[in-house]
Formats: sequence, structure tokens, C-alpha cells
Amino acid sequence: MNETPHPLNRRHFLRTGLAVGGGLTILPSGTLFGAESANNRLNVALIGAYGRARAHYGTLKSENVVAICEVNQKNLPFATKEFPKAKVYEDWRKCLDHPGLDAVLCCTTDHTHAFIANWALNRDLHVYMEKPLAITVNEARTVRATYLTKKDKLATQVGMQRHADPNFNRLRECIHDGVIGSLKEVYVWGNRQIPKPGYLPAAGPPPSTINWDLWLGPSPEHPYNPEYFSGGPGANCLQWNMYWDFGIGQMGDMGSHTMDLAWNVLDAGLPTNIKASSPEAFNPDVTPVNLTASFILPPNDWREQIRCTWFQGGAMPKSPSGGIDLNRIGHGAMFKGDKGFVVADFGKRIIIPDGRSGNMSYYKPRPEAELLPDLGNFQKQWTQACKNGKPAATACNFEYSANMIETMCLGLAAFRAGGELDYDAAKGVVTNNAEANQYLTKPYREGWTMNG
Ligand SMILES: NC(=O)c1ccc[n+]([C@@H]2O[C@H](COP(=O)([O-])OP(=O)(O)OC[C@H]3O[C@@H](n4cnc5c(N)ncnc54)[C@H](O)[C@@H]3O)[C@@H](O)[C@H]2O)c1
Repeated sequence: MNETPHPLNRRHFLRTGLAVGGGLTILPSGTLFGAESANNRLNVALIGAYGRARAHYGTLKSENVVAICEVNQKNLPFATKEFPKAKVYEDWRKCLDHPGLDAVLCCTTDHTHAFIANWALNRDLHVYMEKPLAITVNEARTVRATYLTKKDKLATQVGMQRHADPNFNRLRECIHDGVIGSLKEVYVWGNRQIPKPGYLPAAGPPPSTINWDLWLGPSPEHPYNPEYFSGGPGANCLQWNMYWDFGIGQMGDMGSHTMDLAWNVLDAGLPTNIKASSPEAFNPDVTPVNLTASFILPPNDWREQIRCTWFQGGAMPKSPSGGIDLNRIGHGAMFKGDKGFVVADFGKRIIIPDGRSGNMSYYKPRPEAELLPDLGNFQKQWTQACKNGKPAATACNFEYSANMIETMCLGLAAFRAGGELDYDAAKGVVTNNAEANQYLTKPYREGWTMNG
């Protein structure tokens, strides 16, 4: 147990440090007093202690991990070894009420993300949530709505850490600066395929080390099966994220990262029309492997209305040129303008000018001094935003990320509804097919609420 004395005073300092310390020097790191002195550390709860959480242990070493929540006792020692003073919890609902918390970093199953995010925001806690932020349209809308009432005081980030690759900035710059003229259309794809027939059958009682009831959390009942736990650390999500009650398949998995390549460029809100198609029939247990979903994104102050299409599990956009095999890019994005194409993966981009001359005299790359600043360390961007008085400045805050995942979830809703949806984004309602509104949410177990 490690409770910092006078937590309320400390929290007040962390949140109001800028105002209180008007005369202090804020160093370029963004942290008050520069170095991370003991009283400039966040009191963090780590929820979901192993697997993906390992990627955050390093960042958390600069903070105070005061609480750890884990449903699998076998996974707990990895984290308690790193953070021996933390109080241990099994139920995240109790963990969030740990006295003196400032922030939560969560690496649990996808079906708990929106719940934990919303409960944490309701308690005025900063949140780093692993991707995807939500697995239904309504979950995304609930978290965004709560976040927007608190965005001036709470820092949030969704674990789309590839965003820190400088290629994300370079892509945004070159497309905004007109390297392919006016943007006309965007294509994003991922080739991962994890076919499964259906939920796993009952395989005896869960071992005493796993609290299966808490693992299920808000999800409807399913019998325990060890295969849900048979993946390697950090890849175990591939054992459960394709089942509707636990995830949204590749939309939320690699889709979170890959759509981010496009979303970072587009300055998009929410779509007005969604179409989806798949060679697969709807399976009530498992999300589709092969899916194409297109989204009409309204115009904004720098681009016209465009269509953005997501392809997964074997579906692919057409190559812009015979010499370019898009299949060799496992997860990528392609931007089509009236003067050419940009094809990108996470770390590189290829510019393909239109026409035989390849004349690009219309394009002037921006001077080095005007390049977008490097994001730096993605996790640190969040811990610094918790402290430096600019909480909304994180790249993948809950407004940006909720818009993106709500859009992706609408693609799945269109697939389930069997075709095309017109969407009133202000109200969160499908207007051309009343039946389809049932796919904007999902059933939950009695006793679980998102608004706790
Ligand atoms: N950002 C990335 O690149 C990246 C990479 C891998 C995984 N992830 C995300 O991280 C999350 C976890 O993935 P994983 O592969 O580590 O999964 P996992 O099944 O190994 O779960 C991670 C840990 O959380 C624990 N846990 C599960 N449900 C819990 C609950 N309700 N309360 C407390 N602890 C709970 C598990 O026992 C495990 O120790 C997923 O949402 C996944 O999408 C992100």
C-alpha cells in the first residue's frame, strides 16, 4: 500500500500547478520544475497488469504506481515485481476508488475499455486507454460525451503509439501542402486474418488463478476455455478480440493503428453515409475476417467531401499503377488526389505523380523550420499533458479517437444491417433503416453500467 500523504492537496497541485505557479519556469519537457521530482509524479492505477502492460512499465517507472488491478493471479507478479508498493485489486471498479489517484493506465480486454474509461473520467482521473477505445458506436459516443465535459482538466490518450512515427507528420504535411493536388479519396487496409468458427466451447471450470466472472465483466456469459489465454504476452488479445462480445476483430486491432494513418491527415468528424460488404455471411459469434467498409466524410475548411474506405482480411484497394503491388504492404493507406497518389505504411510513404511527365512543379515542400514538431515519446506525451496544463494536447485524445472508432464501428453496423446506412451523427441515429440502430450497441450483463 503506498498512499501519498495529503492526496487532495497533491492532486490540486498537479492540476493547478500552472495557475498556482504562475512565476515558475516551465522547461521544454513541459513538466513543472523540469525534473520529475517526487511531488511531480502522478499516482497511477495500472489496470490489466501484464501482456501489453509491459510496454508501459518503463513510462510508469517515472510515476507512482499506487494501485494494480489484475484478474489473473499468474500475471500479477510481473507487475508487482516492478511496482512493489502498489496496492493490488482484482475488480477495476474498486481499484478506481483507490484514494489519491490521479490517473489510470488500462491494458485490459477491449470489451472493458469504454466502461473503465468512462468510470475513470467520472472520477476526474486522467486516462491512457489501450486501443480500441470502444467496441460499439454507443460506447464511443458515451466516452466522448463525458470527455468533452472535462477536456480542459483531464488528459487522455488511446494506445495508437505508431502515431509518434515521424511519417505520420510527413504524410499530413505533404497532403495538406498539395503534393497530390486536391484530396479525392482515401483507402486504408490491413491483411491480418484470424478466422474462428464461433465462441469456444466449455472446457471445465476456470483455474482458481483466474477470476472468470471479472474477466467477462460487462460481457454476456460465456463458458471458460483456456484458449482465450493461450497467446503470448502482448499478443494474447488475438485469442479473444474477434468475438463480438470481447472485441471488434481487425477494426479495433490493427485497424486502430492503420486508420490512424488516414485520420491524422483528414481532420474528420463523423460519417454521414456508410456502406459495407463482405464475402462472408454474418456470424453471430465472430466478427468478419474479410470486410470492406466505406465512409462518406463531410467537407471541412481545407478539403471537399471524401470517401474513406477500410479493407481488411484479404479485401484490397486497386493499385494506382501496375508496378506497385499493394499486397506487399500489410497495413497501409493510400491517398488519391487530382494530381496523383500517396501510398504509405507506418514508417514510409511513396509519392506517385499523375501523368507521363510526372511534373510536380505545382508542389513546394514546406521549409524545414515549418515542419510539424516531432511528437516524441507517445506515452510521455500523455504523462506530460496530465501535468503541464494542456491536457487536450495529446495526439490521440478521446475526442479524436472516439470519432475514429465510432466510424469503424459504423462499418460493422452496416455489415450487420446488410448494406448501407445514412447516419445522423449529431443524434447518433441511423435514419434510413430503423432496424440497424440495434447494431449501434450490444447486450451487457445485468449489474454492469457504463456510467458508474
Ligand atoms: N497498442 C498496441 O500496439 C497494442 C499491442 C497489443 C495489445 N494492445 C491492446 O492491449 C490490450 C490487452 O492486450 P493483451 O494482448 O495484453 O491481452 P491479455 O489478454 O494478455 O490481457 C492483458 C492483461 O489484462 C488482464 N485483464 C484482462 N481483463 C481484465 C480485467 N477486467 N481487469 C483486470 N485485468 C484484466 C489479463 O489477465 C492480462 O494480464 C488489448 O486491448 C489490445 O488491443 C495494444
